[in-house]
Amino acid sequence: MIDIPSPQTTAAAFEDHYARPAAGVWSAPGRVNLIGEHTDYNDGLVFPFAIERRTWAAVAPREDRIIRVRSGAMPDAAEISLDELDPANFEDWSAYVFGVFWAMRERGVSLDGRTGFDILLTSDVPLGAGLSSSAAIECAVAVAVNDLWELGLSRRELIYVCQLAENGAVGAPTGNMDQTASLMGEDGHAVLIDVEAETAVPVPVHFGDEGLSLLVIDTRVHHSHATGGYGERRASCELGARLMGVPTLRKLTEADLERAAEVLDDVTFRRVRHIVTENARVARTAQVVQEEGPHRIGDLLVASHASMRDDFEISCPELDLAVETALAAGAVGARMTGGGFGGAAIALVDESKAAEVSDDVDKAFAAAGYGAPHVFIVTPSQGARRDA
Ligand code: GLA
Repeated sequence: MIDIPSPQTTAAAFEDHYARPAAGVWSAPGRVNLIGEHTDYNDGLVFPFAIERRTWAAVAPREDRIIRVRSGAMPDAAEISLDELDPANFEDWSAYVFGVFWAMRERGVSLDGRTGFDILLTSDVPLGAGLSSSAAIECAVAVAVNDLWELGLSRRELIYVCQLAENGAVGAPTGNMDQTASLMGEDGHAVLIDVEAETAVPVPVHFGDEGLSLLVIDTRVHHSHATGGYGERRASCELGARLMGVPTLRKLTEADLERAAEVLDDVTFRRVRHIVTENARVARTAQVVQEEGPHRIGDLLVASHASMRDDFEISCPELDLAVETALAAGAVGARMTGGGFGGAAIALVDESKAAEVSDDVDKAFAAAGYGAPHVFIVTPSQGARRDA
């Protein structure tokens, strides 16, 4: 078990387990979404950033067609042959790894004549906190394989490979925000993603220059995107688009909401209103952060949370309490982040208030009888890369 993983400790663990050196170490980060929730699978706008918490993959080629993977956190290795790549054969967390190979093949990479790999993974991305620990694994493995097989796939193609791994191999019907942030992140920048236009533009957010910290408040309420509410929300959005006569909700603007209120039932209308107004908030946030600075985006974060709580109905009492408490303690803005139904909230706070906000959230959770949250600071960081 490795406590604080790094490229060096990951390479050392590889050597311990496989009794030979790794050919290299690659890594990819988790992400926090600043704003733009459930907009990605509606062809919309999203504004996440990669964080400093990463998954590292130490990798060496094998001479046969086996892919063998171990995780620093799991006792057993999983393995599969390149000839048996089928999601039905993937178990548990190994689906994130084998799914990447499967998705590469599905998207046209020939596996003929190729040999497999030994892989060792370490990570400090918390699991189930809505910080995309799964995308971090997929993207770390994808960049490693892209290099070692000399595939020359672009980052954009790798986004689609990793999204297909998540959708087709893991079975979670997600969009591609997580993979885009993990592959395209840059230090000090959030990534303005336009899913429809297939663009991802790094935008400087100046949190540090302006004396701000971004706190993650992990409620430790766990969620699963492969089942339940996430898929239902996605289905509502598709229904809303169909009834409004558009291919995706991206085609609607706030001017269409009056007609939507007439055409749609109340629940579908509110789901649609969240997506339409959230796209507008993302565009506005990216503009305000550049033109007026990050202190001015607080109201947009708060409005996003209200829309998720009331219209999209994906918050939960713990997330609402985290947001309310952070705001009462003086946060510039706060909102739940990620898929919802648990996971984490974010709070943008003056550095000098970070400890106070964190203490107040702890106390509020204790007073409400909730389990202790996990509060920590994240900084916009570099995306997937080769480390060694
Ligand atoms: C999860 C999914 C993303 C996105 C968010 C909600 O994190 O993986 O694709 O849909 O939920 O914004």
